[in-house]
Amino acid sequence: MTAQTRTVTLINGDGIGPEVVDAVRKILEGAKAPLQFEYKDAGAEVANKYGTNLPNETVESVLRNGCGLKGPTATGIGSGQQSANVGLRKRLDLYASLRPVKSVPGVKTRYENVDLVVVRENTEDLYAGIEHIVVPGVVESLKIITEKASTRICRYAFEYAVKKNRKKVSAVHKANIMKLSDGLFLDCFRKVAREFPNIQAEEVIVDNLCMQLVKNPEKYDVMVMENLYGDIVSDLCSGLVGGLGVVPGANIGHSCAVFEAVHGTAPDIAGKGLANPTALLMSTVMMLDWLNMESHARRIENAVWKVYTEGKVKTGDLGGKHNTAEFTKAVIDAMS
Ligand code: NAI
Repeated sequence: MTAQTRTVTLINGDGIGPEVVDAVRKILEGAKAPLQFEYKDAGAEVANKYGTNLPNETVESVLRNGCGLKGPTATGIGSGQQSANVGLRKRLDLYASLRPVKSVPGVKTRYENVDLVVVRENTEDLYAGIEHIVVPGVVESLKIITEKASTRICRYAFEYAVKKNRKKVSAVHKANIMKLSDGLFLDCFRKVAREFPNIQAEEVIVDNLCMQLVKNPEKYDVMVMENLYGDIVSDLCSGLVGGLGVVPGANIGHSCAVFEAVHGTAPDIAGKGLANPTALLMSTVMMLDWLNMESHARRIENAVWKVYTEGKVKTGDLGGKHNTAEFTKAVIDAMS
């Protein structure tokens, strides 16, 4: 252990989670990243053991270490417990979800030079989970939008644009229909935009954005939006570059951050050793940058790009025939 070694909370999660986490851990070892891991549990698989899908000791570990790396966790549809993801984001106040979407060399899609960033508000909107049955057959679900959360996510998006030399931030909304809630979000965006005169600010209605993105993704740069729009738009964007298996993500707060792929537990391929670990791996690259371990981040990123550019080793989701272990070995070999 070196003086700079950082401890990261590592959460396997459910389904393909343990498989992609294991692949990433091996690649981090191959890159000699100065990290050590504290394994903690979360998700449906461990819910019986702890009586919850998000044990306190997991949340405390991320708080203590300031950083977590997480495999996907399953959430049942319909009644039941809050999602472990939503719980983690709320309890750690991980208010900014950051999802860079970039074309992967060697992965053939309709577009070649996609380079977008989705900045999604992570703590409120319909995800506040305030629902009740008004009378049998009628359910009310409340969308919560606050000035505080809208202002801080818009400021995060502009500060990110400045830091990463981006040109434009687009506010994505539906204020033509939800005049109060999305109207408040837009007001906050406009106020924050005035503090950043060198970054172009524009506004776009969410349905129009979806159509524009599938036709002309190059029109957009950084996009900032409320929680539900962000959930949908980020999956749409991942489809532009080859799907959920290659898109990374981060959930960032003031005092800590949790890095995870955009995809879920992929129950259809879980346990078969077929998962593509690229998305979690690129989330790990984001984590290394966030931890100021840029040389290790570039080492892994360059190796992944090399494997994709050569195109000899590819997992099934991208039309290849290779499994998780073979892809992992190819990335490790590409670093030497
Ligand atoms: P999913 O992302 O698990 O799967 C959608 C499709 O993409 C499937 O065909 C799957 O095989 C494929 N896929 C996803 N990741 C892949 C990878 N790394 N390599 C190769 N193929 C991959 O979405 P789904 O089926 O809607 O959700 C399954 C479960 O995951 C649900 O319980 C859901 O709540 C949970 N989920 C968890 C997330 C998280 O923990 N961050 C995010 C999204 C969903």
